[in-house]
Amino acid sequence: MPNRRRPLVAGNWKMNGLSASLAEIAAIRDAVAAGEAGVAEVVLCPPASLLMAAATLCAGTSLELGGQDCHAASCGAHTGDIAAEMLKDAGASYVIVGHSERRADHGETDSIVRAKAAAGLRAGLSIILCVGETGAERAAGGALQKVGGQLARSLPQDAPAGRLVIAYEPVWAIGTGITPTSGDVAAMHGFLRGQLEHHLGKGAAQVRILYGGSVNPANAAELLRIADVDGALVGGASLKATEFLPIARVYCSRDNDLN
Ligand code: PGA
Repeated sequence: MPNRRRPLVAGNWKMNGLSASLAEIAAIRDAVAAGEAGVAEVVLCPPASLLMAAATLCAGTSLELGGQDCHAASCGAHTGDIAAEMLKDAGASYVIVGHSERRADHGETDSIVRAKAAAGLRAGLSIILCVGETGAERAAGGALQKVGGQLARSLPQDAPAGRLVIAYEPVWAIGTGITPTSGDVAAMHGFLRGQLEHHLGKGAAQVRILYGGSVNPANAAELLRIADVDGALVGGASLKATEFLPIARVYCSRDNDLN
């Protein structure tokens, strides 16, 4: 069956970036506008402190913006948190939920992630829902079980497939320079597609499944050609336009029936 999903390359800046970094966003914006990402959709998730300024830079262009996390509530007494509605208001169209760093650093459980995902959808955002096993879980042969369980417990009921993106990010591959084998990525993404069919029925074919974890210009072409890999969630390599753009450029040269 032909792949009719539009590829997505998303950059997650994490807790990096000061106002001087807006120059990188402008450079990425200009390259995307010049067609350097081919058919791919490109989203940058800067820290919340840069979101409104980035939105001003990107207004009317095809470079989209996202938040890195949101609270489950739309407003209230939650010091330091940010609501999905605030991200939308600041110019975001996406929000990442359930990143393994949030799960580890802030004790986010699958049910918290599910509430955050529902909040993002409620605010009109598309969500990038992250799942992934630890190195110990993979070594013990439990990777599929772990990821399948995370998906089942963190997927909101009646999630609209068109606004749902899953990011498979093995925890042991994030920021380490190590990536799984192509075979392991293919097996996990195929498994996730099957799980999505189970949860969402026919809509599953619309859901994009990204790979994340040490994606860089040298390994992007190989990772992004794997079946059921519909794009990438890029951390460290998204901070510099000169590293991020070659990843998006994979979709320029690619035979793609979206062309
Ligand atoms: P990395 O991070 O590309 O720096 O490994 C990916 C992520 O955590 O989203």
